[in-house]
Amino acid sequence: MNPAPAAAPSCLVTGKPLEKIFSFGRMPIANGFLAPEQFADEYFFELAIGFNPESRMLQLTERVDERKMFHENYAFFSSTSAYMQRHFAEFAAKVSEAYLGESADPFVVEIGSNDGIMLQNFAARGVRHLGIEPSANVAAKAREKGIRTVSEFFDEKLAERIVAEHGQADAFLGANVMCHIPYIHSVFEGVKKLLKPKGVFAFEDPYLGDIVQKTSYDQIYDEHVFYFSAASIGFVAAAHGLELVAVEPQSVHGGSMRYVLSHRGARPVDASVRRQEDIERFLGLDRPETYVKFGRAVERSRDALMALLDDCRKKGRRVAGYGATSKSTTVTNFCGITPQHVEFISDTTPIKQGKFSPGAHIPVRPYEDFVKNRPDYALLFAWNHAAEIMAKEREFVAAGGRFILYVPQVGIEP
Ligand code: SAH
Ligand code: TMP
Repeated sequence: MNPAPAAAPSCLVTGKPLEKIFSFGRMPIANGFLAPEQFADEYFFELAIGFNPESRMLQLTERVDERKMFHENYAFFSSTSAYMQRHFAEFAAKVSEAYLGESADPFVVEIGSNDGIMLQNFAARGVRHLGIEPSANVAAKAREKGIRTVSEFFDEKLAERIVAEHGQADAFLGANVMCHIPYIHSVFEGVKKLLKPKGVFAFEDPYLGDIVQKTSYDQIYDEHVFYFSAASIGFVAAAHGLELVAVEPQSVHGGSMRYVLSHRGARPVDASVRRQEDIERFLGLDRPETYVKFGRAVERSRDALMALLDDCRKKGRRVAGYGATSKSTTVTNFCGITPQHVEFISDTTPIKQGKFSPGAHIPVRPYEDFVKNRPDYALLFAWNHAAEIMAKEREFVAAGGRFILYVPQVGIEP
């Protein structure tokens, strides 16, 4: 057992006390796939959310040390999804067109560059670039592709070193990483120092509005310290002389938001910012009650999913998980899904195969095993990649296979 955290939780943005709104109970490391000999000393913490109305930030009340999550055995390789490769090619093209044209020698820096899925597009165009990726194994993959990468955690200090060595950046990019970093003020201060006067900071993360509207509670896990909105990003930016100048909803990862920031006053503020802030007030994202209601919806979703899985079990139907996602760790552990409900989880990532899922200890097997030994139902843990997966699994469906989904509602498809 791990020792209980000493301090009462406080808001990472304002430093004020943070009240726990909903608890998922004890959770393991979401990407901590493990071998049986590691079961006995598996690490657990309390996964719970709290909301600070002043900064509008929904966040975890307890956090896991980043070195326990991001290291030389990090299990998430961005390039496993062909769809995401296309997404980042488009993201890079958009940045090049909109923001790099004015610069004689553009320089692009990316935080959380992983295996180079985004920067490979700049490298291919001969654009000066630098990836920042603390997980050494995925950073090594990027370097193999010829992408310049430093394997460190980004913060204000590292930003100063980058400026000293390479000069300031035209664009600072990030995807699915800003929401991981609890020392958000240090990161924003670093960005402030790193950006040229007209430089842009463009990043995207799962969007709070989608999480609340779709009850996609599985976005909540150790790595996701924050659940951002236009209002909360605007609040943090203002504290560092930065400004939110545009937002753009994205369909990836179950509903994300791209935020574009610049130095205050350096660029015109697009109408999308005000529009999104209005939508957020309409959704009640500025009120704690919204998250109390969300908690109740999460419990109803859990009960419906377990009723379905228990029914499958009683009828002797075989269920396999599809995609050993980090999100699935919250679902299996919160709902109480066991290897009796889900025989195995199919995943294409070699580092996860042959291991067991965190907490629930469901075996993870290669995709070939799913094809050879098709179950009656595939519990779609990788629901955010549903379009890509459904297109690939026509044969499974033609042979009578069905998908179990739980976002936005529990149900069977097709
Ligand atoms: N951008 C990729 C990877 C997202 S996973 C994508 O969207 O697919 C998050 C990545 O951020 C991990 O590879 C992790 O090692 C990295 N990361 C975590 N904390 C970081 C920090 N402080 N600075 C830079 N990278 C960080
Ligand atoms: P993500 O939801 O965090 O992007 O993780 C997706 C996981 O699902 C990753 O481990 C790879 C796996 N996966 C498959 O096994 N098959 C697929 O077709 C896709 C798209 C993902």
